[in-house]
Amino acid sequence: MADNFYKHIVCIGAGYVGGPTMAMIAAKCPQYKVTVVDINAQRIKSWQGNELPIYEPGLLDIVKKTRGRNLFFSTAVEENIKAAEIIFVSINTPTKTYGSGAGKTADLQYWEKIAREISKVSESDKIIVEKSTLPVRTAEAMERILRVNNKKAHFEVLSNPEFLAEGTAISDLENPDRVLIGARDTQSGQKAMLEIVDIYKHWVSKDKIVTSDIWSSELSKLAANAFLAQRISSINSISALCEKTEADITKVARAIGMDRRIGSNFLNASIGFGGSCFKKDILNLVYICEYYSLYEVAQYWENVIKINEYQQTRFVKNMVNAMFNTLANKRITLFGFAFKANTSDTRESPAIYISHKLAEEHSRIIVSDPKALDNAQYDLKGIADCVEFELDPYKAARNAHAIAIITEWDIYKTLDYERIYQQMEKPAFIFDGRNILCHKKLYKIGFNVYPLGMPCMQHF
Ligand code: NAD
Ligand code: UGA
Repeated sequence: MADNFYKHIVCIGAGYVGGPTMAMIAAKCPQYKVTVVDINAQRIKSWQGNELPIYEPGLLDIVKKTRGRNLFFSTAVEENIKAAEIIFVSINTPTKTYGSGAGKTADLQYWEKIAREISKVSESDKIIVEKSTLPVRTAEAMERILRVNNKKAHFEVLSNPEFLAEGTAISDLENPDRVLIGARDTQSGQKAMLEIVDIYKHWVSKDKIVTSDIWSSELSKLAANAFLAQRISSINSISALCEKTEADITKVARAIGMDRRIGSNFLNASIGFGGSCFKKDILNLVYICEYYSLYEVAQYWENVIKINEYQQTRFVKNMVNAMFNTLANKRITLFGFAFKANTSDTRESPAIYISHKLAEEHSRIIVSDPKALDNAQYDLKGIADCVEFELDPYKAARNAHAIAIITEWDIYKTLDYERIYQQMEKPAFIFDGRNILCHKKLYKIGFNVYPLGMPCMQHF
């Protein structure tokens, strides 16, 4: 027992998942001491201050309420591992870039390092919870490393994948569709599982806490992300057909989404999905299928990624075609750079690919985003000489030949487009990569309007 707390939970990894999930646990379970540790000292320092390292609506409030009470951030990884009864591991699991499985499988070197570190310093029994998204059967490897290297303590490895989406992390954590916990079907496995159920029971109703074996839990996370990404690729593939046939993708999405078996969520055509996980997790799934010689299954899922890349390429090609087959020396303003609204995260954002393609066309790119400009500057280091960054969307659009809507931030829906139009080069173009604007109104103002998956409106 640590201090006067009932139990000490430690989370390794103070990122987009570790920070918000632990803040929620600390808020809902005041009798637990929750410490989030990370090797990145700068990140920990930010968690300790008022400028959190990630932007997430509602997060600062919850951190302020719990920090110093039962939520702590620290770089003392070893010391906290030693003191913990329950360890959530929420480190990044990037795609491997070298050797066998390069470009597809997860790079588990950091994962293995953590397992070795836990086994090296532990002097008492611990429950290890996989929070990161991992290839199915990773828990087995972790158990082996822990048990072979440490005979003093008993380690029970569980899977508890995280389903939060960025931008809505706090509400997703507060009202999850489900919490999934996978454990071994042994006495100690089931006992450990109940300990994790006990934590979530503080605020999640029992019927939403799903328990299973570890392998189903690990695979469910990969499958859930693959299904979600597949929906986006499905609607995006139909958007391409809409553009050829004068059908309207928003009408098609509405009509098919009213079928309860299909459902209306996640049917927004876009410039493609981004974010750190969809592509990585599908590649992981593809690799596992290939490993088990399930080549047709692997190919099926790989096509979800191919359509996503196709959609991004198509977006830039449409711009080139519409703007008289040349973008050279034209000022193109990107409204938004984050991979979705309400986050500063730009990992795998389609904006990165689109910017590079525009640079290849010798355009001048002006990037505007309310929260993601720091990350955008980092992402576009390689083409810095043809990019400008401007927080104010009106200034960003001044003298532009075209605006491309990249991120569906609310602010872009309510700008004074009459004023923007007056200050742009003519003919002025808008490419709405999110279908969030009123296209008829823009056309009336004078813009040539190119929505996604519906007929364009041009004045010539
Ligand atoms: P992240 O990169 O934001 O955070 C990971 C943190 O782990 C980093 O701060 C890094 O410094 C730290 N770390 C790495 N190795 C460490 C070590 N040895 N000791 C201590 N700290 C270490 O990653 P994330 O977005 O939070 O994702 C974490 C995992 O959760 C991934 O597996 C991801 O697939 C999964 N996931 C992410 C999301 C999301 O919305 N980002 C949602 C669900 C699941
Ligand atoms: C996604 C899942 O939704 C989470 O459940 C999961 O936990 C997480 O991945 C993860 O494992 O990392 P996230 O990537 O944060 O969450 O955000 P989403 O809302 O899923 O959006 C992903 C991408 O798809 C964004 O680029 C978004 O703009 C795009 N999208 C989403 C569309 O293009 N159309 C849609 O209809 C919905």
